[in-house]
Amino acid sequence: TQSLTLLGLESSCDDTAAAVVRHCGDGPAEVLSSVIFGQAELHSAYGGVVPEIAARAHAEKLDHCVRDALTAAGLHLRDMDAIAVTAGPGLIGGVISGVMCAKGLAAATGLPLIGVNHLAGHALTPRLTDAVPYPYLMLLVSGGHCQYLIVRGPEDFTRLGGTIDDAPGEAFDKTARLLGLPQPGGPSVQDDAENGDPQRFRFPRPLLDRPDCNLSFSGLKTALMRMRDQVMAEKGGLTRQDRADLCAGFQAAIADVLAEKTRRAIRIYLEENPGTPTVAVAGGVAANTAIRAALETVCSETGTAFTAPPLALCTDNAAMIAYAGLERFRIGGRDDMTLSARPRWPL
Ligand code: KG4
Ligand code: ZN
Repeated sequence: TQSLTLLGLESSCDDTAAAVVRHCGDGPAEVLSSVIFGQAELHSAYGGVVPEIAARAHAEKLDHCVRDALTAAGLHLRDMDAIAVTAGPGLIGGVISGVMCAKGLAAATGLPLIGVNHLAGHALTPRLTDAVPYPYLMLLVSGGHCQYLIVRGPEDFTRLGGTIDDAPGEAFDKTARLLGLPQPGGPSVQDDAENGDPQRFRFPRPLLDRPDCNLSFSGLKTALMRMRDQVMAEKGGLTRQDRADLCAGFQAAIADVLAEKTRRAIRIYLEENPGTPTVAVAGGVAANTAIRAALETVCSETGTAFTAPPLALCTDNAAMIAYAGLERFRIGGRDDMTLSARPRWPL
């Protein structure tokens, strides 16, 4: 197969990113550079991502990220075979900034322009890092997404189910806020949960009575608030141990639900496909050690292989966009100057 080198741009949420990825044929791809400018500090005072601030920061940082990614790779724009950019889904102002930047680069160089679905970027990461063959089963768990997919090709996805309300990362972040722990909530809740008793508080296990792969996390947050308020009413405040026990109970509920729904996703996959699948997980919540352990247990019990990309490629980055663009490019996918930003774009 022909060796291809792509520049990728990502600006759909609160990370401005550019990366250069090369793929020489079979086997994993090579991330020649991956530059990320995180905006967390710009938004921290507001308790969430402010779209207007995000869009402005993307517009200001994108060309710096592109320059730094090319420099770090030791390459020039003329060494690229194409330019890939996230064209959605995401915050529209940020996505437009990325698409305009990519169009400018494509117009100036004559290079092909490839629009990439951000979720496809996450979903193809196991191929970027481990050359996982199609088809495979994907669990996307982040602050914004939660879904099970069968990945059959660069543009061929079957959605088996997903959250009907909050994403799990969102639930971790809200839980941290309710307990006065720092953001992002995932790591702080995980840290506190280490010293907690997961049995003390009885958290619900939403939607486990349904046979499908749909999930719900907003009830956990409501349950947590109720339990917290009850302890506060009884004792006048929360001790360190109360907080740890609440975190442990909450985290165990999420891990249990994801493990059980993954079991179901594997079952559904097996009904339609010959051979046991590889189960891949990506997204920021994949960093959680309790969740990872629960998924690994399900996979070893069902005889399926488990893979999770390194954390830097699990969370938002541009290498996954360059790689997804590269796979689209290989099968003839192209865009032109009519490429538009899509705030909503289901796989
Ligand atoms: O994929 P990501 O960087 O951004 C998107 O949402 O696209 O994911 C960020 C989310 C945040 O909600 C954060 O709290 C969560 O991932 N997260 C974790 C952990 N580390 C990050 N959640 C649970 N446990 C963790 N260790
Ligand atoms: Zn993402």
